[in-house]
Amino acid sequence: MAQHKLKTSIAILGCGDVGSTLAYTLILQPICSEVILVDLKKELLEAQVRDLNDATYRGGSGTKVRAGTHQDAGQADIVVITAGAKQKMGESRLSLLSRNLHILSSIFSSMAPISPHTILLLVANPVDILTYFARKLSGLPESQVLGTGTSLDSARLRGILSQKAEVAPNSIDAYVLGEHGDNQFIAWSSATIGTTPLALAMPNQLTPDFKASIANHTRGAAGAIIAAKGCTAYGIGGIAASICKYILFDSRTVRPLSFYQPELGCCLSMPAVVGRTGIVKTMPIELDQTERAELEACAKELRAIIEGAEK
Ligand code: 2OP
Repeated sequence: MAQHKLKTSIAILGCGDVGSTLAYTLILQPICSEVILVDLKKELLEAQVRDLNDATYRGGSGTKVRAGTHQDAGQADIVVITAGAKQKMGESRLSLLSRNLHILSSIFSSMAPISPHTILLLVANPVDILTYFARKLSGLPESQVLGTGTSLDSARLRGILSQKAEVAPNSIDAYVLGEHGDNQFIAWSSATIGTTPLALAMPNQLTPDFKASIANHTRGAAGAIIAAKGCTAYGIGGIAASICKYILFDSRTVRPLSFYQPELGCCLSMPAVVGRTGIVKTMPIELDQTERAELEACAKELRAIIEGAEK
């Protein structure tokens, strides 16, 4: 008789602002049976576990939260990596690379051996570069190593377009692609409201100045929040929880996610179908000449950073 694995577990490495927000989001909408929190700060770890479990006793959530080791994490269905330095006011995500790449390397040394079925979800920044190296350090298939990428930027884009077009955000299909950072770009030519192309839905608004202001708003959203409160957590925590749900429920949802792009030689965000095995398949997208050039420029910049880090 095949052993049916009834318990599903999500391990979260790092239980600071983002990791604990993700854990809380997971227990609010039962997505998995168990959340395993891992952190080197043992006092913080124990306190987060106790505080989060207090949120499960009111009934409703069947999710249990426990402290675990890196070895425990390596056997979970999904490992979410939030551990790492976070941007300070005015700091770019790329400036975190050397510190967070060092942390990533030590995580994989401690996690080994990783179950061959585990899905890795990178959240720590610079997420595209860390996703690239997580793929190499883990030895897992490329489809099982993904990063939140521009999913959050795309949510922010839907939010601002929703206000401008006076339409619900979930009726807007518009992607930010490329780097979760300064080299991101908006795929304006394929954006729609319902099935209506944006150019038809917002004929008088879609000027170059409008597009530039929307792009600046989206690109600068995190910086503005970090300047005021020191970090972002709810946006990225919610995005990461949604991706975990797509994976465990095998929902086959299409989202822009960071994963390895063989023809570009780096990890960056493109549309993909997400399911139980991670990236189930890529979803081709028509890019116009400007967008194709932005994608190539983004990939060139990311490859240069990867080459520098590999030296
Ligand atoms: C964000 O975009 C900081 O990457 C994080 O909210």
